[in-house]
Amino acid sequence: MKKITIVGTGHVGLVTGVTLAEIGNQVVCYDINEKYIAQMKQGISPFYEPDLNDLLQKNLTKGQLFFTNDPKLALEAAEIIYIAVGTPTAENGSVDLNYIEAAAKTIAENITKQEIIVVTKSTVPIGTNNLIKQLIETNLTYEVNVNIVSNPEFLREGSAIYDTFSADRIVIGSDCKKAASIIEEIHRPFGRTIYLTDLLSAEMIKYSSNAFLATKISFINEIANLCEKVGANIEEVAQGMGLDVRIGTQFLNAGIGFGGSCFPKDTRGLIQKATEVGQSLEVLEAVIKVNKQQKYLLMNKAKQRLGNFKNKKIALLGLAFKPNTNDVRESIAIEIASELTMQGAMVIAYDPLALEEAKQTLGKKIHYASSLEEAITDTDMVFIATDWDEFKDFPLEKYEMLMNQPIIFDGRNCYSLDRISEYNIEYYSVGRPFK
Ligand code: UDX
Repeated sequence: MKKITIVGTGHVGLVTGVTLAEIGNQVVCYDINEKYIAQMKQGISPFYEPDLNDLLQKNLTKGQLFFTNDPKLALEAAEIIYIAVGTPTAENGSVDLNYIEAAAKTIAENITKQEIIVVTKSTVPIGTNNLIKQLIETNLTYEVNVNIVSNPEFLREGSAIYDTFSADRIVIGSDCKKAASIIEEIHRPFGRTIYLTDLLSAEMIKYSSNAFLATKISFINEIANLCEKVGANIEEVAQGMGLDVRIGTQFLNAGIGFGGSCFPKDTRGLIQKATEVGQSLEVLEAVIKVNKQQKYLLMNKAKQRLGNFKNKKIALLGLAFKPNTNDVRESIAIEIASELTMQGAMVIAYDPLALEEAKQTLGKKIHYASSLEEAITDTDMVFIATDWDEFKDFPLEKYEMLMNQPIIFDGRNCYSLDRISEYNIEYYSVGRPFK
C-alpha cells in the first residue's frame, strides 16, 4: 500500500485516484477547481462515468480517498505524485501544456520529501516527461531527487472503470529502473500485463495507439463510402475482415467519424510533434482529412433528399461524442447541430445524458427535447449522431407514428437493414444499401 497524490481530478485523474484507492492505496486527490472538489468530497463525480460514483463513495467511506484544494496538504508528505491534468488543444492547434507546467510548479513548491516519483498520466507530447522533470527541478527550493515515470492511460470514456480493471496492458516508461519498479509494484494488484519501457517510447506508445485506432476508423469509413458506390454492406465487410486476428473486429464501426477529447487532439498532437522534428506523417494526415469530411457525406445526402434544410424540422438524436458519457468535447453531433442550424433547419435534439453540456455549447441555437418521442414528433427527418442503446432499442413504429414523414439518416448504423425493412421507413445509413 502506498501514499499517492493525484494532481488533477478530471476524467483521467479521478478514475486513476478511485481505482488506485480501490486496490488498497491511500490516495489524496488535488484540484484547483473548488466546486469539483466539494462535489467529490460528497461522493459525487462532476462527470458521468459508469460505476465511478459507487467506487468513489466506497473508498471515501473506507478512508482510502481524500480530496482537497490545498496543494500543501496534498503534496507535503507525497512521495508518489500522479500528474493527470488536462492537455487540451491550444488556439494554434498545438497541445496546450499550461496545466502541466502549473502542476509541475505546484509540485515543486509544496513537496518536502528528499526523493519523489512523479508519474505522468496525462497524454503529453513526446519529450514532455523530461520537460516536467526539468520544470520541477528548476522550481525546487531545496535538493530533491526527482524521478519521472510515464504511465499513459488507455481509458475510453463511458468504460473507464472497466478499462482500468481489464486493461490489455499497463505501460510504464522510465529511465530510472528503481522508480519504474515501484510504480510496477503499485499496479501489480490490477493483475494486468505490465509493459516496461523507456520514457520516450512510453509517450510514443500512447500517441501511436490512439493514432492507430483513429486510422482504423477512417479506414473503415472510406471503405464504407466505397461500399455505398458498389452496393456492398460495410457491416458484412467489417465482420469478414475482423475474423482475421491480425485485423480484429473492434474499431471497425463505420459512421460519421470520430470525435471526443482524445482522437482529434492526439492525432493533431502527433502531427505537430512530427512537424517539429521534420518528419511527415502522411497516413495520419489522411486519417484526419477523411474524418473531417465524413460527417458531411451523410448530411449532404439528407440535404439532397429534403431539397434543402431551410425551415425543415429535424430531430437530432445524440449530442455526446459517444454513448455512455455526457462529454460533448469535439462531438460530431454538436458540429452537425451547428451545420444544420446554419443552413436554416429547426433542430430539436435529444440525448440521454448530454443535454446540459450541449446547452453550454449550442445555447439557444437549437431546441432540446426531454425524450426521444418528443424530439421526433412532427419532424421532417431524424438524424442519428450518437449510437445510444436507447436509440437502438427504440420501437421503430414510433418513427412511423410520430414523424411527419418517417425519414431517418443514421450516422451510427443503429438499426439492422432486416429490422428496418419491416417498417415503412426511408432509411439511409453509412456504407449500407438504402432501405
Ligand atoms: C479513446 C481511446 O479508445 C482510448 O484508448 C484513449 O485512452 C482515449 O481515447 P475515447 O475517445 O474515450 O477513447 O472513446 P472511443 O470509444 O475510442 O471513441 C472515440 C470516437 O471514435 C467516438 O466519437 C466514437 O463514436 C468513434 N468510433 C469509435 C467510431 O466512429 N467507430 C468505432 O469503431 C469506434
